[in-house]
Amino acid sequence: MDLKQLNAFIAIADLQSFSAAAKTTRLSQPSLSRLLKQLETSLGVELINRYHRPLQLTEAGQFFYEKVSAILTELETVTNMTQRLSAPDTALNIGFVPSVLYGLLPEVIATLKQHSAGHEHPNSSSATDIEVNLKDISSYQQVEALKSGEIDVGFSRFAHQDPWIQQILLRHERYVVALPKSHPQANISDHRLIDLANNRLILYHQTHLPAQIPNTDSVTTAMTQNASALQKDKSIMEPASAIKSTSASTVTEPLLNLFARYSITPFATTKVSDLQVALGLVAAGVGITLVPASLQTMRTDQISYQRLIHENVTSPIYLHTLKDFSHPKVSELLEAVYKVYEARGITYRRQQFI
Ligand code: BEZ
Repeated sequence: MDLKQLNAFIAIADLQSFSAAAKTTRLSQPSLSRLLKQLETSLGVELINRYHRPLQLTEAGQFFYEKVSAILTELETVTNMTQRLSAPDTALNIGFVPSVLYGLLPEVIATLKQHSAGHEHPNSSSATDIEVNLKDISSYQQVEALKSGEIDVGFSRFAHQDPWIQQILLRHERYVVALPKSHPQANISDHRLIDLANNRLILYHQTHLPAQIPNTDSVTTAMTQNASALQKDKSIMEPASAIKSTSASTVTEPLLNLFARYSITPFATTKVSDLQVALGLVAAGVGITLVPASLQTMRTDQISYQRLIHENVTSPIYLHTLKDFSHPKVSELLEAVYKVYEARGITYRRQQFI
């Protein structure tokens, strides 16, 4: 069994056709057919039902396909990393989700650059910049981008369960409610989610929580940790049964999930493509939304941002890198994040990469 045979099998299985696979692999159909036959002979198993059109995997073929494609993806990642080890890119490529860009990311990068320049030229006032490239990449796409080397580090609001990825939870950021300035509740501070339920909620997240699996973000953790404290707080008045509601684990949209944890379903929702559009709709009076607190400087002429009473309605911020291959500047980047937190008086728990 060799790589050529495995790649031929994957191409045929993906495209369900010898002629289509021949085009993409640039092999002739007889060569592809021979490679597949050799693979089946070495396994002693038929992998593809050749009499079916389009071609179909046998049951054994389906099992083999799933396992082998995962192995080939890993091999590609290892190849990529090995090449990067011998010729590391000096630029630091950072992937981010929009909500961190509109928040503290620019300040973090300015701090990193200052620190980096001071490090390399301690007696010089002329700073040579560390080269930083910024890439707008959704949370889940950051995993693939890290593996392929497109980015060296990613900032996002979701945890990843991937054996190649390590992540540091930077902090839990509280959500605030964004209301149109003309809204009757616009000047009330310390809102409860239940009092917002009669509004149209504008949804903007592109990444959803994993279905069924209790999510690993701050809401779950903080909710578990603070459930008893919450129940003691009479001003909040959610029943204990609402806090423990299991149905929330089936609500994968992040904002709806926050409401579902209190057994609340907003009266109406509108889904938009991103945060900027959501704030545009709030400004236009279409509805309300929840945003991480660092975003409350946006559109302040049209939008009123108010606190939520629930301390555990938060959004986590993670820094992700590859486990086995970290860019040399990543620890400086982490230090820059902590410096910004300290300068702004933001509470955090210092962590280190293992
Ligand atoms: C933060 O808001 O905590 C944050 C934003 C961007 C990068 C790192 C941290």
